[in-house]
Amino acid sequence: MSSTQTRRLLVTSALPYANGPIHLGHLVEYIQTDIWVRFQKMQGHECYYVCADDAHGTPIMLRAKQEGIEPEQLIARISEEHQADFSEFLIDFDNYYSTHSEENKTLSSAIYTTLRDAGHIHKRSIHQAYDPKENMFLPDRFVKGTCPKCGTDDQYGDNCEACGTTYDATELKNAVSVISGATPIEKASDHYFFKLADFTEMLNDWLSEGHLQEETTNKVKEWMQDELREWDISRDAPYWGFEIPDAPGKYFYVWLDAPIGYMASFKNLCDRNDIQFDDFWKPGNNTELYHFIGKDIVRFHALFWPAVLAGAGYRTPNNIFVHGFLTVDGQKMSKSRGTFIMARTYLEQLQPEYLRYYFAAKLSNGVDDIDLNLEDFMQRVNSDIVGKVVNIASRCAGFIKKNFNGQLSAELPAPALFKELTAASDNIAKLFESRKYNQAIREIMALADKANQYIDDEAPWLKIKNEDTADQVQGVCTQGINMFRVLVAYLKPVMPALAQGSEAFLNCAPINWHDIQTPLLDHQINKFKPLMTRIEKDKIDAIIEASKQNMATQAAAASGPLADEPIADEIEFDDFAKVDLRIAKIVKAEHVKGADKLLQLTLDIGGETRNVFAGIKSAYAPEDLEGKLTVMVANLKPRKMRFGMSEGMVLAAGPGGKDLWILNPDDGAQPGMKVK
Ligand code: 2FM
Ligand code: ZN
Repeated sequence: MSSTQTRRLLVTSALPYANGPIHLGHLVEYIQTDIWVRFQKMQGHECYYVCADDAHGTPIMLRAKQEGIEPEQLIARISEEHQADFSEFLIDFDNYYSTHSEENKTLSSAIYTTLRDAGHIHKRSIHQAYDPKENMFLPDRFVKGTCPKCGTDDQYGDNCEACGTTYDATELKNAVSVISGATPIEKASDHYFFKLADFTEMLNDWLSEGHLQEETTNKVKEWMQDELREWDISRDAPYWGFEIPDAPGKYFYVWLDAPIGYMASFKNLCDRNDIQFDDFWKPGNNTELYHFIGKDIVRFHALFWPAVLAGAGYRTPNNIFVHGFLTVDGQKMSKSRGTFIMARTYLEQLQPEYLRYYFAAKLSNGVDDIDLNLEDFMQRVNSDIVGKVVNIASRCAGFIKKNFNGQLSAELPAPALFKELTAASDNIAKLFESRKYNQAIREIMALADKANQYIDDEAPWLKIKNEDTADQVQGVCTQGINMFRVLVAYLKPVMPALAQGSEAFLNCAPINWHDIQTPLLDHQINKFKPLMTRIEKDKIDAIIEASKQNMATQAAAASGPLADEPIADEIEFDDFAKVDLRIAKIVKAEHVKGADKLLQLTLDIGGETRNVFAGIKSAYAPEDLEGKLTVMVANLKPRKMRFGMSEGMVLAAGPGGKDLWILNPDDGAQPGMKVK
């Protein structure tokens, strides 16, 4: 990577929805992208990193309504919160904008019009679930009911959690609108479709050019084996978004204008600076375009987006870098375990660079999930950054300051060792470039070990005490400080604040990748101040505790659409009397392989055990439930589910927080007792 040719790059991260806070799961991507962009800039390349809030769609419209404010007010507030979080995590966007902008409206309309005029838009009438109380069409996630295939209740309108079947919301049995509780009716309306199949050849060519990671290419090829279905890009009023130019009352589906938001954010940056928008978006300009995304939104980016761009006469991306999800301590982030951690909650306790370093140490160029193991996080940061890297400077700085007036020596005593460190620069650059950050970090730490070994061997603390060797200490410590400088340069994309503090200590200009070949000699340094302190366990405990509290507060404030689930139709006493409620002891609770929401419970109802699958995984870890009491419907007809027979139901209250009604055994209840 010693190429001197300046590249011109435009880089994006996925646009976060403007209806909730940034959490650590989001940060994997922003940190991954930010490291890459900082690395490119350090190489001297012209690189722009743009992002925006994804501000349209039904959930945002409903959230604003629920808060009694206008969507504009909601998105303005959330944008401020997002930007504060990003900035404190040192995510250095060149522009952060909103999809609800004039630029985006203009670009979305122009792209749509071009596609339409080229014959790639098709209008036809479709039937959809409609809420007659709210007078609106219902997105799949806003309809719940019984799976038409296996009969499991409480399933969303797109697919069944129990048997995995996908279906249309109109096929659900006993469907209800989660907004009003009304029974949806079926209603027809005209929709606008993007004819994706028109781009089959273009997409096949693009895929065969080898732009994407292998896993992603395979996934997209798999989708392309079937005929490419038209993509529904319109939604009916009421909808929070941009109205389609030639179709009053019809709006662009949020996923149409969201990726165009990348262009709009960049356009806004260009208009305020001397950058030519077309250089980066029109074909044939020798510029590069990269999107970093999570594995859940590949279809939108690797299938629809290149086709939309090509159809509208724009260039296609050079690559779409897909990453996996974040797990915490080996499991999905969990509200009840306190591992669903918001960016803000983390920042209240710990410095952002600890997490940036840890994510870098874990991130590869693949799509595998990455795990934040909290114990390992603390140990790794403490041992690598505090114990190894910063330690080199702190072991050397005092002697230079105290014994040599802050002056570095004129020569390095071990130039070969210094060369060994600087010679790694090409390889480390290659690893950053290819997003193998975990390997880059491993290399850097191996070099830090070498630097520490040198100081151990030279033992300046002993040499200084001996008249014959005292004057060698300046050289040894100059060597140490220069090796520290090289390591800080390598870590700079990951830990820019550490680098800045080090530059102040070293009294040098901002370090660039290529500067490190020349050591700092005969040079005055400043007083050393601790650049980084150890992570203490109580800070991590405080984060977990605060995350549990956050969730409890949110549950109490009842934010999701389920929270205001309406009271069901009145029933007769006889209907109620038919329900046999029993106290049940949870003797065993286990995860169910392949199920996102379910736990398998073994319940003791006084001499009889029942096997029940309950959708409470997001609220409880199995170990929290064992030995506790709950209330179950004991006479519910057993139902066959994909994972086995479910012999009853436990009572639950949602959403979030304490979803299941748990009693303490010492409350006096006994398994099998009838609840009246
Ligand atoms: O999945 C999401 O969170 C979307 N808001 C990402 C949009 S990325 C882009 F296409 F705008
Ligand atoms: Zn089912």
